[in-house]
Amino acid sequence: MPRDNERSAFGVYVHWPFCLSKCPYCDFNSHVRHAALDEARFLRAYLAEIGTTAGRIGARSVTSIFFGGGTPSLMQPATVAAILEAIARHWSVASDVEVTLEANPTSVEAERFRGYRAAGVNRVSLGVQALDDGALRRLGRTHTAAEALAAVAVARKVFARYSFDLIYAREDQAVAAWAAELRRAIAEAAEHLSLYQLTIEADTPFAALRAAGKLTIPDQDCARALYEVTQEICTAAGLPAYEVSNHARTGAECRHNLVYWRMQ
Ligand SMILES: C[S@@+](CC[C@H](N)C(=O)[O-])C[C@H]1O[C@@H](n2cnc3c(N)ncnc32)[C@H](O)[C@@H]1O
Ligand code: SF4
Repeated sequence: MPRDNERSAFGVYVHWPFCLSKCPYCDFNSHVRHAALDEARFLRAYLAEIGTTAGRIGARSVTSIFFGGGTPSLMQPATVAAILEAIARHWSVASDVEVTLEANPTSVEAERFRGYRAAGVNRVSLGVQALDDGALRRLGRTHTAAEALAAVAVARKVFARYSFDLIYAREDQAVAAWAAELRRAIAEAAEHLSLYQLTIEADTPFAALRAAGKLTIPDQDCARALYEVTQEICTAAGLPAYEVSNHARTGAECRHNLVYWRMQ
């Protein structure tokens, strides 16, 4: 049974459904627009949606806000600020509210981090995905490992809390290579890491490559060994799993993530 303070948790999720390019493994609600995006129009739509949702749900105290995507780090900080102001107009906001924004780890996006902090964001989650340039290329990523780690360093300076994502069980990934990569990642991490096993999603370019025999991912035994070494290394480093793919020091779990897992 949830404790009283858990029962009262209330999170607001804001989805930004655009990316600069589509990664070949991803089936998220994310789209590439080649024409300029009318961000002011999107903002008006978010404000209308927040007002409608608040009318339906009624008074609550917001304990977490999460800007997910897509790539929310393509939003102007002023847009993020206006959305946060609208949330605060319609609901009360807890004094220790967690406000997370997902970011792609490029230098352009890292330049906006101070603007997001000024807008009220207090936590970022970066999609690093791999610390190996060849693997990043195969994942269709537009950044190098060095650029991603530079963005992590900016996040460390600007935000009290940050996390980053890695994808494992990638093509031809051996357990020893992943263990070494994970140890390097932990040295760069603070209190939270998201470690996702690669899932081949239907109707993605990776699914087509796999069907054509051009993409081989670890078999189940190897995937299991990769999962187990992940648990061992993270637990030994003080970052145990608090759900299937997310690891944190005790007390540093992503509160918004817990809202879902506790069905709040
Ligand atoms: C919305 S993205 C994070 C922010 C940003 N769009 C980025 O990619 O850097 C959410 C995360 O889900 C993970 N993900 C997406 N598709 C996946 C897949 N098919 N298998 C495993 N992880 C996946 C990636 O680690 C990604 O960083
Ligand atoms: S992984 Fe992130 S950047 Fe890549 S397409 Fe999906 S949402 Fe966009």
